[in-house]
Amino acid sequence: MTVAPLDILDRVRKSLNADACRHERSSIGQFLTPVTIARFMASLFQWESEHVRILDAGAGTGVLFAACVDALVSGKQRMLSIEVTAYENNGRVLPHLKDTMERCKSGCKAAGISFRGEIRAEDFVRAGIALVEEGLFAVEGERFTHAILNPPYMKINGQSVTRRLLDSEGIEVSNLYAAFVWLAARMLEPGGELVAITPRSFCNGPYFRRFRIALLDMTSLQRIHVFESRKKIFGDDEVLQENVIYHAVRGGPKPRCVTVSSSEGVDFHKTIGRAVPFECVVLPDDRDAFIHLAMNDTDDLVMKRMGGFAMSLYELGLDVSTGPVVDFRVREYLRPVPEQGTMPLVYPCHFQNGFVSWPVGSGKKPNAIVSSAQTRDLLATAGYYALTKRFSAKEERRRVVAAVYDPHRIEAPLVGFENHLNYFHSRGQGLSADLAKGLALYLNSSLFDQYFRLFSGHTQVNATDLRKMRYPYREQLMRLGRHVKDRMPDQETVDVIVQRECENNG
Ligand SMILES: C[S@@+](CC[C@H](N)C(=O)[O-])C[C@H]1O[C@@H](n2cnc3c(N)ncnc32)[C@H](O)[C@@H]1O
Repeated sequence: MTVAPLDILDRVRKSLNADACRHERSSIGQFLTPVTIARFMASLFQWESEHVRILDAGAGTGVLFAACVDALVSGKQRMLSIEVTAYENNGRVLPHLKDTMERCKSGCKAAGISFRGEIRAEDFVRAGIALVEEGLFAVEGERFTHAILNPPYMKINGQSVTRRLLDSEGIEVSNLYAAFVWLAARMLEPGGELVAITPRSFCNGPYFRRFRIALLDMTSLQRIHVFESRKKIFGDDEVLQENVIYHAVRGGPKPRCVTVSSSEGVDFHKTIGRAVPFECVVLPDDRDAFIHLAMNDTDDLVMKRMGGFAMSLYELGLDVSTGPVVDFRVREYLRPVPEQGTMPLVYPCHFQNGFVSWPVGSGKKPNAIVSSAQTRDLLATAGYYALTKRFSAKEERRRVVAAVYDPHRIEAPLVGFENHLNYFHSRGQGLSADLAKGLALYLNSSLFDQYFRLFSGHTQVNATDLRKMRYPYREQLMRLGRHVKDRMPDQETVDVIVQRECENNG
C-alpha cells in the first residue's frame, strides 16, 4: 500500500515552480524536493519504534513527511501510530500541504495505523525557539522521534527578529538552513533521528563553525550522501549549490565510522556507501571541525599524502589574507592604465602561466590604483607574493589556482591586491623568491586541489580554508620553488615535483 500516489507531488512541484519565478522562490528559500530524493531520504531512517512522531520543518507541499508515511505504510514493520507536525509559513503552498496531510491520513487509515497530522502555519524559528528554550522556568517542549527537512536557504539579516531570537538561544548561524537543522536536532528525543538535505557549505569555513560543532556534539553522524552534479538533483529548479543529505542520531557516543556515499544525480540505486572512520571525517585535532568527505581510494590516498605535510601557515611564519582592494568602494581611485602616481592593481585576469602578467590590455579591469593617503592602507609593499584566485568558474578544472607576484617584473614600490584574490605574506610583507614560487607550485598541484575538494563543495576559496591546509616544511617549499623558472611548469610536471616531496616525507 502507498500514500496514493506520492508522485503527484512531483507534478505539484513543477506547476508551483512554473507559477512563481525563481527570484520569488529564492526570496523565501523555496526549492521543493523531487519525490525520488524524498523517498531516498526517508529510506535512511531506522524506524525502530511502533509509535513515531515526525517533524517536518519548512514542509512546502509535504513531500518529505509523505515519503516517510509512505515508507512506513508500505514497509514490513508493524506500525501502531504516526504523528506528523509540519511547519510552513508560505500561504501559496499551504493548500497542497493540507492535501498531502489528508492523503497520508487516508493511507494510514486504510493500513490500520492511527494517524494524527498537524500543520502549523507559522515561523518555525519562532516556534522552535519556544519549544527548546532552556531556563529556570522553561517547560520541556514536545520532542520528536524523527525530523526530516529540506530547510530554506537564506542569509539571516543581522538586524532581524530571527537573528535576535536565535542569539537568545545561543544559536549562532548566518543562514536559515543551519538554524532549522540546529533547532530540529534539539527537538529530537534521545535516540531520535534526523535526515536533512542542505547545501554542503556547512562542512567547512568559519561561518558554519558553531553549527558544525553543535551538530556533531548533539548528534552521532551516521551517513552523508553527496551529489556530484549540482544541477541534476533539483532538475527543473536551477539550484547551483552543491547539496548533501545526512542522517544523524540524537545523543549517544560518536560513531566509529560514517557511511559516505555519492551519486551523480538521483541514480541512488548505483550508490555504494563506504564506511570511513570518524576521525578521517572530522580530524581529531581540528578545532574548527571541518567535515572531510573521502569518497574513494583515491581520496584516501590524497588524505594520506597530505597528512605527510606537517606545517601550518602559522608555523611557517606566514599568513594568507583576502585582497583588501574592493574595487567598487574605491572607484574614484582606479585607473584603466598606469599613470603618474598610481600603483599596480592585481586581479585574477592578470594570472598568466603561473605569474602575474601586468598590465593587461583587454580593458575590462582597471590596471592601476592611485597611491594616496586614502588608499595607502590598501596597498602592500612590493615583494614576492603567492596569490590564489578566490573564485573559479564551475566548469573550471581546478578550484585552487595560484600565481607568483614577482616585483622584478613590475616596477613599483607598492601593489594593490584586489578582493577576488588571496595573497600569502609574512606579517604583511613579501616572501623570498623561492618561498613564493614554491608555495605557488604547491598550491597549483593536483594534490592540493583534490584535498581542498574533500572538505569544500564551494567554487570559492577563502583565506580561512587556505589557513586550514597543511604545508610542506620551509626547506621543502624552497626546494619546490627552485623548479619554477620564468613560468609555472605544466600540471603533470607540477604533480611529479610535489609527488617527489611526498616521497621525501616517507
Ligand atoms: C527548501 S523549501 C523545502 C520544502 C519542502 N520541505 C520540500 O522538501 O519540498 C523550504 C520551505 O520552508 C518554508 N519556510 C521558509 N521560511 C520558513 C519559516 N521561517 N518557517 C516555516 N517555513 C518556512 C518555505 O516556504 C519553503 O516551503
